[in-house]
Amino acid sequence: MQIVLLTRDHDRAGFDCGVSELNRFLKATARQHNYKGISRTFVLVDDENPKVILGFFTLAICEVNIKDVPAAFAKKYPPQHGLPAVRLARLAVSVKERGKRYGEALLGEAVHRTATIAEQAGLIGLFVDAKNEGAKQFYEKYGFINTEGRPRQLFLPVETLLQL
Ligand SMILES: CC(C)(COP(=O)(O)OP(=O)(O)OC[C@H]1O[C@@H](n2cnc3c(N)ncnc32)[C@H](O)[C@@H]1OP(=O)(O)O)[C@@H](O)C(=O)NCCC(=O)NCCS
Repeated sequence: MQIVLLTRDHDRAGFDCGVSELNRFLKATARQHNYKGISRTFVLVDDENPKVILGFFTLAICEVNIKDVPAAFAKKYPPQHGLPAVRLARLAVSVKERGKRYGEALLGEAVHRTATIAEQAGLIGLFVDAKNEGAKQFYEKYGFINTEGRPRQLFLPVETLLQL
């Protein structure tokens, strides 16, 4: 198994995670965004069949408002500035491959890559908008916390992600 940058060699059309918006993003947008530097999409593939996408995630740099940061963490940041962060813009596993801890492996890689950005450029944490209650529970297992503002927006503070 490896997690690599999405390229034109991967079978994007063959991927189905059961959520059409996520399938469409992978098929139509992700590679263009990689090329243009808007975001980065990485795919999980098997060494035996490296074209088949088992799952993917997308990371993007963002700027958040102090109101997006949970109160316990907001205290230490200057309120008048936008704050640097990374957004886990997408994460999905193929419907055929669920329950094999591929979601966990992809999230681990996303956290690891975000930690590298934190070390090199600085950021306050990793944000994600959970698609539904199940996805929210999935993220909470790994230490993501509610941001209080938007209902399903979750936050993994930089202190936590550097430990993981
Ligand atoms: C959410 C998703 C990525 C999980 O992938 P997965 O490979 O099936 O999950 P894993 O096998 O890595 O599961 C790891 C743990 O999370 C739990 N988990 C997985 N999906 C869950 C869900 N929907 N609700 C609650 N817990 C969940 C598993 O039970 C497992 O828990 P355990 O440690 O107690 O055994 C996958 O279901 C998916 O792609 N869903 C559709 C797209 C989506 O909703 N993406 C999130 C976008 S915000």
